[in-house]
Amino acid sequence: MRALATIEAEHRNMWRVTNALGVLADRLGDPRAAADRPTDLATVALIADYLESFTERFHHPKESDLLFTHIRRRSNEGAAIIDRLERDHEMSPHQVERIRDLARPAVVATEAAALATLVEEIGSFRHRLGEHMRLEEDVTFPLARQVLTAEDWAEVDAAFDAHVDPLGDPNAPAEIALLRARITQLLPAPEGLGGRSDVVVEKLAPRRAAAQGTLLAVSGLTCRYGRIEALHGVDIEIGTGELVALVGANGAGKTTLLRCISGVQPAAAGAIRYGGQDITRLRADARVRAGIAQVPEGRQVFGPMSIEDNLVMGAYTRPSGEIRTGLDEVYDLFPILRERRKLPAGTLSGGQQQMLAVGRAMMSRPKLLLLDEPSMGLAPLIVEEIFRIVKMLKEAGITILLVEQNARAALAVADHAYVLETGSVTLEGPGPELLKNDDVRRAYLGM
Ligand SMILES: Nc1ncnc2c1ncn2[C@@H]1O[C@H](COP(=O)(O)OP(=O)(O)OP(=O)(O)O)[C@@H](O)[C@H]1O
Ligand SMILES: [Mg+2]
Repeated sequence: MRALATIEAEHRNMWRVTNALGVLADRLGDPRAAADRPTDLATVALIADYLESFTERFHHPKESDLLFTHIRRRSNEGAAIIDRLERDHEMSPHQVERIRDLARPAVVATEAAALATLVEEIGSFRHRLGEHMRLEEDVTFPLARQVLTAEDWAEVDAAFDAHVDPLGDPNAPAEIALLRARITQLLPAPEGLGGRSDVVVEKLAPRRAAAQGTLLAVSGLTCRYGRIEALHGVDIEIGTGELVALVGANGAGKTTLLRCISGVQPAAAGAIRYGGQDITRLRADARVRAGIAQVPEGRQVFGPMSIEDNLVMGAYTRPSGEIRTGLDEVYDLFPILRERRKLPAGTLSGGQQQMLAVGRAMMSRPKLLLLDEPSMGLAPLIVEEIFRIVKMLKEAGITILLVEQNARAALAVADHAYVLETGSVTLEGPGPELLKNDDVRRAYLGM
């Protein structure tokens, strides 16, 4: 069944490539980006080349000839699904060809509607491809796991073991290397294109029930920025009182997930339940009142404002009579903030500003604290201090979702952890167990 993991990794890579196509389509449709049009069109053509060489030389033959054939033979229900998937396989080269055609500078220059058609065609291609990949992952592969025999798998796996993705191949020819560099540059954040797709990860120990029940349950959460789908059906669960870590590379969607939970970013699909209630459509300020507070990436304290005024801002959902008590609680946690309370926040060091950002969130008396990369940009000793504070907050009974690039430190303290890769959870397990996992060590800890 290794073949299925390979295909799923290829799918993730395919999402990255088609996201790049989406970015290009947005730019091609934007008159302000007209100066970059020739380069953008050339890049669309390059991506079309990649998709063609990938699907024809690497993907379809072994999938269609082996995996699909076996499924067809072993299941009637499977045969109908395979018909549909094969139709997609037949269609997709035509669609890619059409995209390449429309992207020719001569066509764009002479046909008024060509650009709009190209943008539309790219959108439709991405949509179909997404549906195709989901049909495979959600329906076809589970079926294959049931119906294929051990001999079937031996044959299929052997074919897939010999697989190399042209875009991820270090010995790829120069034009592929150039393509890879161009696509990587296009992605709004460094996505590690292809770099992690060879790491095939699975669920570790099944999630045990939290002792005090579930506080937050995110299910099937999808989030979009325009055409770009940043989260593709994410499921996570946090038990009351737990410290849960979320790790993943740049651009994986960690911040997006936190923003969906705190309500500043709308969910396109899926549900968020908190304390047993559906809060998916609840406004952000109502979520703060309900006890969800976010400490944003990059701290975002207001430098010219005094430390105390920064803290007071965090209490906007509380009656004014409670603000004094709130301040005292935060000052007890972070005495340095009391000492300097009249000074502008900008005079604090990076670590102290992080304390201020945490203190500001604490002013709303949260039950669930969402921490976005609190150790970012801090010196090692200060990082230790920040992790000490996180542990202290947990001991004080606050439930914490901790996003970290510092995977080693985060996993070491986490009750449970999730690995997010380009918008999907690819691995979960108890923090220390993940820390021992070879795939995680290779991908996130550089070991
Ligand atoms: N406002 C936005 N508009 C369009 N795309 C966005 C926006 N914010 C994020 N994205 C895209 O969504 C994806 C996920 O981004 P996100 O910031 O959630 O990742 P992250 O895991 O927090 O990354 P980092 O480690 O860099 O903080 C990326 O591809 C990113 O480029
Ligand atoms: Mg982020």
